[in-house]
Formats: sequence, structure tokens, C-alpha cells
Amino acid sequence: MDTQNIKQRFGIIGNSPLLNRAIDIASQVAPTDMSVLITGESGSGKEVFSQIIHQMSARKHGSFIAVNCGAIPEGTIDSELFGHEKGSFTGAHEARKGYFEVANGGTIFLDEVAELPLGTQARLLRILESGEYLRVGSSKVQKTDVRIIAATNVDVYNRVKNGKFREDLYYRLNTVPLRIPALQERKEDIYLLFRKFSADFSDKYRSPSLHLEPDAVQILTNYSWPGNVRQLKNIAEQICVLEKDRNVTGPAILNYIPNESGSNLPMAINSQSKEDFTERDILYKVLFDMKKDMVELKKLVAEIIQHGGNTASVLADNPQYINQLYRDVELPGGHEHTFTIQQPTPSNGSNANNSDYYAHDAEEVEESLSLIDKESDLIKKALKKHKGKRKFAAQELGISERTLYRKIKELSL
Ligand SMILES: Nc1ncnc2c1ncn2[C@@H]1O[C@H](COP(=O)(O)OP(=O)(O)O)[C@@H](O)[C@H]1O
Ligand SMILES: [Mg+2]
Repeated sequence: MDTQNIKQRFGIIGNSPLLNRAIDIASQVAPTDMSVLITGESGSGKEVFSQIIHQMSARKHGSFIAVNCGAIPEGTIDSELFGHEKGSFTGAHEARKGYFEVANGGTIFLDEVAELPLGTQARLLRILESGEYLRVGSSKVQKTDVRIIAATNVDVYNRVKNGKFREDLYYRLNTVPLRIPALQERKEDIYLLFRKFSADFSDKYRSPSLHLEPDAVQILTNYSWPGNVRQLKNIAEQICVLEKDRNVTGPAILNYIPNESGSNLPMAINSQSKEDFTERDILYKVLFDMKKDMVELKKLVAEIIQHGGNTASVLADNPQYINQLYRDVELPGGHEHTFTIQQPTPSNGSNANNSDYYAHDAEEVEESLSLIDKESDLIKKALKKHKGKRKFAAQELGISERTLYRKIKELSL
């Protein structure tokens, strides 16, 4: 299939040399079953390209599963990807198949792959090398035949240098690198894309088609498009729906384009629209920050649940949460935002590398220690009540037997 046909089949718009080159590489690598690492800014078309590769491969009748690695909490990602056995952690009431099992014979698209925790990276490397993996809580080796397409909008090699991403995994994934150019690198495609999107949206909303004046085209072309094709599509939709005058001029289009500081827009921005946008930008930012906080909170809660409700242990393992939690929170008595987590250090010293995160503030040590005291008190009471029978004690405490076992060891009860 030649480039033109591929574009038609997958609805790819654009004709810049960099885009054509990416399509070329994708179609060549598609039938080989090799891993592909797709890099490119957000909204540039990475997911579209992962589809092209899957659809043009021998696996096209198998399943295609897209996983956003950045959106799954660290505590549950292994179980989502590799499945788990019943009872392998608190809340695991049933065994569950992981994506790698479900996608057997097909393709998995790992979006934002740089966000994978190191432990998951190790499991992923094993799958890439041998097709073997273990469900969480099981020691029985499973086999799967899955092609991996990964994507990232950050510099993964930089993560390798910082010890956040395994070098061996990086090379294994990056057998064939595929870079999707940003819109800024293919300005000639911007107007083509806009025309296609605005025609589609005019159809969809049964509105008269739009015509852009030359100065409006100029503005579109010179804008930096940090959100790439996705952003362009959104703006085309907004204009299609909101613009009463179907003959769109430069000043009119400026109402829809976020204003850039140090912008290279050819026109002066009229003060009315500028103000509208500042306000809207602030609102967007507030919403964005709120969403980020929500995701963080969800992650934290998931981790706490997985650790049988042991908040202290989760916070000690993930000190970054502490700052986030106390960033906007006024502590009673107007304390500074330092918070100390003291965990009984296990004798194997597995927490040693976190020690530099601990803020030592004598006043608050008491408080967190008492939490742990309370916990060990409760465990002792539960064990006593059930005459040392761990199963029943764990039930009463609302944690899994495994967690209880771990706690008894940790707290040296
Ligand atoms: N060359 C293109 N032609 C037409 N639509 C595109 C093109 N590239 C991306 N898109 C569209 O832009 C949006 C974002 O693409 P996506 O693949 O999700 O980006 P990414 O995964 O890089 O964030 C999607 O709606 C996709 O269909
Ligand atoms: Mg994406």
C-alpha cells in the first residue's frame, strides 16, 4: 500500500515530508512484529500511528488494547497489566485477567510508557524477552504472545540517565524508533488539517461551511500549537459552532487562539478578546490543577487500600505525597508544612534510600509514632481476641492475612 492509500484509509491529513516519512516507517515496520517506540508531542498522532501499525500487521484480527500507563495508579498497574490471583491483596475478591492475557495474539499500546514504575518495567522486559509473566500473587509462569507498541511525549533516554527508566528496556522497546513530527515542524499541514476538520464539523452540526480570509490562515499557521492536531481539531470545532460570520477574518480567529507571550502572531490583539482569554486561561489552569490533584489523591487512596489501610507505610514509601498533601492544607495550630513519617525500619533496610526525604521535626514525631502504636495495639488486641488465629484477626481488622503477616513482622509483635 502506498503512502497516499494509507492516508486515505486511516484518515491521515497532511503532506509534509516528515509526516510522509513517518507513514513510510510505520508501514514498513508494521508486518515485522517488532516493538516500536513512538515519540512525539501530545496530540501529534501517536495513537493514530499505533493503529496503523496494528491494522497493517498480521495481528489485525487480534485485539488491540490501549493502556495509558500514566493514568493507572502505581499500586494497581501490575495487576491491570498482568492480572492477579484471588486474595493476592486486600480487595482482590476474584482472580482477574491482565491486559497481556486478554491481548494474547494481538497488540498492546502502552501510552506514556515512561511513567511505568521500575518494578513494572522489569516485568515488561521479561515479557518482551520471553513472552513470560506472572500474575500478581502467583508463582506460576504464564505465556503470552503480544506485540508491544509504546509511546511517549517525554525524552525517555533522559529518564534512563536519571535512573527512572531501565536502559535494557529502553533499547528493547526502541528497536524501531518512530517520531511523529509536531505541527510546528509541518506548518504546511496546518491549513490542510483545519479545512478537513472544519468541513467535517460543518457536516456534523449541519452548519454552513467556513471560509478563512488570508490573514486568518496566516494566524493559524504562525501559532505554535502546543497541543498539536488535537488542539487544532478542538479549535476548528469551536469556530464551527460559535462563529456567526462564516467568512472568518484574522481578528475573529484570534478569539479562539490562546494568546502567546512573545507570540509571533502578525496582528495586534484587540484588548477585548485578550481579556476574555486571560480569564479563560486561568479557569483552564485551575481545572487542570484540580484534575491533577484528583489523580494524585486517587493514586494515594489506591495505594493505601492495597497496603491494607496502612497510611503511614504508604506515605513513608512515597514521600512525594506528603508535600502534595500538605501543599494547600493548613495544619491545626498553624504548623509549618513538615510532616514526619517514622516507620519501624525493617531489618533488611529496604527503606534506607528514602531516608533523606524524612523531615525530622521532633514535635510531630510523637503524633505519627502514636499512629503506629495504635496500629500495633489494635493488632495485638485482635490477635488476642481470636486466640492468635491470624485469619480471623485479619478479618476483624479489615486487612488481608498477608498484610497482617507483614505487619506482625514489621512491628515485631
Ligand atoms: N495527521 C492527522 N490527520 C488527521 N487527524 C489526525 C492526524 N494526527 C492526529 N490526528 C487526530 O488528532 C487527535 C490526536 O491524535 P492522537 O493520536 O490521539 O495523539 P497523541 O496520541 O499523540 O496524543 C486524534 O483525534 C486524531 O485522530
Ligand atoms: Mg495520546
